[in-house]
Amino acid sequence: MITPVLLCGGSGTRLWPLSRKSYPKQFAALIGDSTLFQASAARLSGPGFAAPMVLTNSDFRFIVTEQLAEAGIDPAAILIEPDGRNTAPAVLAAALYQEKSDPDGLLLVAPSDHVVPDAPAFRAAVQAGVAAAQNGQLVTFGIRPTYAETGYGYLELADAPGAGAPRPLALTRFVEKPDTARAEALLAAGNYLWNAGIFLFSARAILAAFRAHAPELIAPVQAAVDQGKPDLGFLRLAPEPWAKAADISIDYAVMEKAENLTVVPFAAGWSDLGDWDSVWREAPRDARGVALSGPATALDCDDTLLRSEDDGLELVGLGLKNIIAVAMPDAVLVADISRAQDVKQAVAALQAKP
Ligand code: GDD
Ligand code: MG
Repeated sequence: MITPVLLCGGSGTRLWPLSRKSYPKQFAALIGDSTLFQASAARLSGPGFAAPMVLTNSDFRFIVTEQLAEAGIDPAAILIEPDGRNTAPAVLAAALYQEKSDPDGLLLVAPSDHVVPDAPAFRAAVQAGVAAAQNGQLVTFGIRPTYAETGYGYLELADAPGAGAPRPLALTRFVEKPDTARAEALLAAGNYLWNAGIFLFSARAILAAFRAHAPELIAPVQAAVDQGKPDLGFLRLAPEPWAKAADISIDYAVMEKAENLTVVPFAAGWSDLGDWDSVWREAPRDARGVALSGPATALDCDDTLLRSEDDGLELVGLGLKNIIAVAMPDAVLVADISRAQDVKQAVAALQAKP
């Protein structure tokens, strides 16, 4: 059995004003009826999967339980981080928690804000990685890159990936978030895949990797788990030791340094949906590239996303090209699609306002 470990502590600022600190993108229905978090939990359920472990923070704990109940999923544990210290401490806490009951149990660490339309194909890719994970490998899932994205990790294969059914391949290197020039070089090289940010390993193997590459994290996170307090079905990790854990992602803390890496290529569709440009790309669009959501109307527009999140607010675009317009009851974003990454800066500017 594989225990899914669902990470849902991030706040997704590039998707403002839909994604908020208090209600980040993974809990919103960005595409379709269920939320990204619900879809992620459902994707990792069924034969071969145990009940999931969820890592989140205090603010989201009731959204998590509500949305799991709505999706008919009963979690094995919900661990509450006193504050977000990125993915390395979160994954380490999950592995230490798992170690108590079954150290050889496999964990599938997955973000809760991705779109993977073909769930059966994804589950098949996970199954393809099981034997390697049981052998102590840290299994990643690789996506064929289509442009020089700087927000992803890159996985270096010994050879260019072949076609056919997904099967595990040896990895020579993991490069997290290269700058633009390096990303362009990696793309041109042809033997790199994007890291999907999803990992399969045994608790034992990832704990050994933490001990080897990020030993300073072990003591504070172990203490935070051991001294954690059960509270209404949640396990609240202890704040004092937790505060001593470094704020670092698992990619930088472990994956870039690990030598026992394997990748299962995955070609059936994956998107991080990290910004409005990718939401527009993934949404159903008409022949002129217009995507509408909520009470929205486009007249003579091209390559535009119009999204009203307020039933009483009609959003009308006229003669627009390459525009994102997102209307919430209390805020409206209008931006050029090419500036989708900079929405983060807009949020920072708003926060800095007196
Ligand atoms: N519980 C918890 N606590 N979850 C967290 C925390 C935290 O402190 N920080 C982030 N997360 C969650 C996010 O909500 C998201 O679901 C997931 O962990 C990954 O974090 P991101 O911040 O979105 O990472 P990223 O997108 O910059 O990079 C990762 O994903 C890329 C693919 O989307 C890396 O693994 C890259 O290598 C990868 O290419
Ligand atoms: Mg992400």
